[in-house]
Amino acid sequence: MHPLFAATPVPHDLPLPLPIPEWTLVACLILFFLIHILFVNLMVGGSLLVVWLEWMGRRQRRWDDLAHAVAETITVNKSLAVVMGIGPLLCINLLYTMQWYSANALTGHAWLLIVPLVIVAFLLTYVHKYTWESWSQGRLKILHQSTGIAAALFFLFIPFIFLANVNLMLFPSEWEKVRGFFSSLRIGNVFPRYLHFLAASLALTGLFLAGWFGRKQANLTHLAGFTRPELRRFFYRVCAYVTAAQFVVGPLLLFTLPAVGITTRLYVIILSGAAVGLLTLLLLFAELKRDDSRIGGLYGVIVALFSIVVLGMGSGRHVYREAALTSHKAEIRERTVAYQAAVAEFNRTHAALPKAAAQSPEELFMTCAACHAPAVQLVGPSLVEIATIYAGNPEGIVAWARAPGKKRANLPPMPPFAHLGDANLRLIAEYMITKGEAAQP
Ligand code: HEC
Repeated sequence: MHPLFAATPVPHDLPLPLPIPEWTLVACLILFFLIHILFVNLMVGGSLLVVWLEWMGRRQRRWDDLAHAVAETITVNKSLAVVMGIGPLLCINLLYTMQWYSANALTGHAWLLIVPLVIVAFLLTYVHKYTWESWSQGRLKILHQSTGIAAALFFLFIPFIFLANVNLMLFPSEWEKVRGFFSSLRIGNVFPRYLHFLAASLALTGLFLAGWFGRKQANLTHLAGFTRPELRRFFYRVCAYVTAAQFVVGPLLLFTLPAVGITTRLYVIILSGAAVGLLTLLLLFAELKRDDSRIGGLYGVIVALFSIVVLGMGSGRHVYREAALTSHKAEIRERTVAYQAAVAEFNRTHAALPKAAAQSPEELFMTCAACHAPAVQLVGPSLVEIATIYAGNPEGIVAWARAPGKKRANLPPMPPFAHLGDANLRLIAEYMITKGEAAQP
């Protein structure tokens, strides 16, 4: 490593311009991330609900049917979650290159493990979905349930790795203490964040399924044990109770956030989000009170309000990240300027060297001497041989040395010496010819 690099205490900034204005990238990051996390939520929440419903299905068949119907939605949502994850990944790479890659590197193996874990989780989900009928009796049913539980556990662990990473990138001052994934969990407030994420997953999945099974076109023939309003009510209830729990988990998350990124702006955004959240919760309970003929009437309003809450929390997240990293970014910028100045200085003094001490043809020839001797062949042909070929034509040697060809089958190729410059090569060439002619037998 170059000493200048080694002496840079924080990695230097990339002096490359962003391809589009920074605010566009920020907007894309927030928007793409929210779309991605929505499907992640549905995938995680869905797999948890399936485990629970299939468990209830041991007593009453209709819950098993419902579990099956929910399982059908997971594979689609998980595919969308992955595809929609590419956008935010690209944006975060551009906007937070130093912090993001540092966190990736510090969580090491766990970060790399994501790919195989995702593959296994997907396969398990498909196995679970497609064996619903064939593994429905006795021991096979236990195997089936275990597959569902295993898939859910994988789906619980993968976002945890992501979360640890995203959390770690916010606290550069702690990086030196990190020794792999598990030690990174002690930094910041990973666990409250995770709890908040899990609750959000269940709430959003409840809301999604209330709409999914409640819609007019929904085919409920496999769900004979339920009426449409019953299904609506059940999933609304999941959404309402978990959202109510968020009013405990949310503050826990907010108050355990390390102080570095906390600003008044953050409080304003989060508290406004929470206020809309409270309104949403009240509407959810109002829906639950309605009788069967009217339940679902407020669905559109509730979804709209929920979207505002999610957008608010997503922006809050960004505001915290920006504030937490302000000083680190400034430090990197400062060091980069110092680093570039040092490099410029290094290049200036270095470029001056050859001019200061002009070399004699004999000294210059030392570059070639390892392979070319006056009368005998070493790695390359002797000067006697070269002098016969190039007598009266030093320019020919210059041209060859700049870009050597491949001539002799019994010898290796010669490396090019264009970097010496034509003037120096010309001196060497004349020296070679003189020496070669003098050594002729
Ligand atoms: C690492 C070994 C090596 C060094 C150093 C080296 N050469 Fe060579 N040189 C060769 C080899 C090998 C050949 C024969 C290549 C071939 O014929 O394919 C060769 C061939 C030549 C020839 C003959 C070209 C021809 O038309 O037959 C010239 C002239 C020559 N070198 C000039 C130089 C000069 C000038 C330098 C120093 C600036 C230099 N060489 C440094 C290995 C070297």
